[in-house]
Amino acid sequence: MPEEFSRAYWEERYQGHGHGHTAQGHPPNPQLVAETGDLAPGTALDAGAGEGAEAVWLASRGWRVTAVDIAAGALERARRNAADLEGAVADRIGWVQADLTEWTPPERFDLVCTHYAHPQGPPQELYRRLGEAVAPGGTLLVVGHHPSDRHSGAPHAGVHGAHVTAEEIARALDPRAWEVVTAEARPRTVTVADGREVTMHDAVLRARRHG
Ligand SMILES: C[S@@+](CC[C@H](N)C(=O)[O-])C[C@H]1O[C@@H](n2cnc3c(N)ncnc32)[C@H](O)[C@@H]1O
Repeated sequence: MPEEFSRAYWEERYQGHGHGHTAQGHPPNPQLVAETGDLAPGTALDAGAGEGAEAVWLASRGWRVTAVDIAAGALERARRNAADLEGAVADRIGWVQADLTEWTPPERFDLVCTHYAHPQGPPQELYRRLGEAVAPGGTLLVVGHHPSDRHSGAPHAGVHGAHVTAEEIARALDPRAWEVVTAEARPRTVTVADGREVTMHDAVLRARRHG
C-alpha cells in the first residue's frame, strides 16, 4: 500500500501551490467531456473531486453532483473555484469530505466518475465500491494514469501505485452486471511547469450497469 496516498499526502499537495492549478481552477477532464457529453443529466458522484473542475462542468450541464474528496484543502479550493458560479449551478453541487474507501453513498447515482483518485488501498476495491454506487442503467467512468506515463517526464508520473490499465479497472466489475462501453489508453497533451508539452496516456474505462 503506497504510504504516499494517505490523507496527509493529499492535504500537503493542496497546500501552497497545491495541484499546480490557478485559483480559477482548470478545465474539466477531456475524457469526462468525451464520454459523458451524450448522457442525459441526472445525479452524479464525482469521486476524488479535487479542485472541482469536473463537478462544476457536470453541474453546468444540469447534473446534480455529489463531489467527494478526502482532502479538506481540495474542497476549500473547489468551493472557492465555484464561488462565482451562477446560483442554480452552485446549488446543484454538494461537497462532501470523506474517505471513499470507507464512505457509504446515501444513494445510487446515474453517473459515477473518478479521475486519477488513486487511493491508499487496492484501487480495484475502490473501483468495485464505486461500481456499487451506480444505479441500474447508469454509467461508471474511471480515468486513471496509464503505466506508460511513468516515462512521460510529467510531475508525479513516477509515483508508485498510481498507474492502471483500463483492462485492470474492468476486472473490478462483474461482467454479468456490466457492459463495457470504452476500455482504452487515450493520449492527452499536458503542459508541465517548465512550459514543455508532454503526451500522457489516460486509462479510460466507461461501463454501463445493466438496468
Ligand atoms: C490526483 S488528484 C485528482 C483530482 C481531480 N479528480 C482531477 O482530476 O483534477 C486525486 C484526488 O483524489 C483524492 N483522494 C485520494 N484518495 C481518496 C480517498 N480515499 N477518498 C476520497 N478522495 C481521495 C485526493 O484528495 C485528490 O483530490
